[in-house]
Amino acid sequence: MPATTQKVFVGPSNDVPEGGRLIIDVGGMTIGIFRFQGKLFAYQNRCAHEGGPVCQGKIVPRVTEVIDENGASRGFAFDESRLHIVCPWHGYEYDIQTGTHPGRPSLRLLRVAVEENPGGIYVTV
Ligand code: FES
Repeated sequence: MPATTQKVFVGPSNDVPEGGRLIIDVGGMTIGIFRFQGKLFAYQNRCAHEGGPVCQGKIVPRVTEVIDENGASRGFAFDESRLHIVCPWHGYEYDIQTGTHPGRPSLRLLRVAVEENPGGIYVTV
């Protein structure tokens, strides 16, 4: 028997500000909705490590190592072009745009379909 899905109204667009998130309970699951560079991304609030509430973690730019022209490390910097969510249980990080762990792409969050139109934000569950 095919699974049925439903499109559910979440709220107005300004409920998810740029660089921010909204956590909702819908369809028997908890979902985190994020906005980055104007686009929305949604995932089930379940870490691929041990099931922690990953969507409720800290949102930070990706940390990268700065290498000079001689190949020497010059410390670390934030890469503002990538945004990560950090699971509050053990610190696993996931790229908000892809839902994958940057060092181990096989670890990924479960994506939820999200769309936005002039009426607001909707998820399909
Ligand atoms: S459960 Fe998320 S890092 Fe362990």
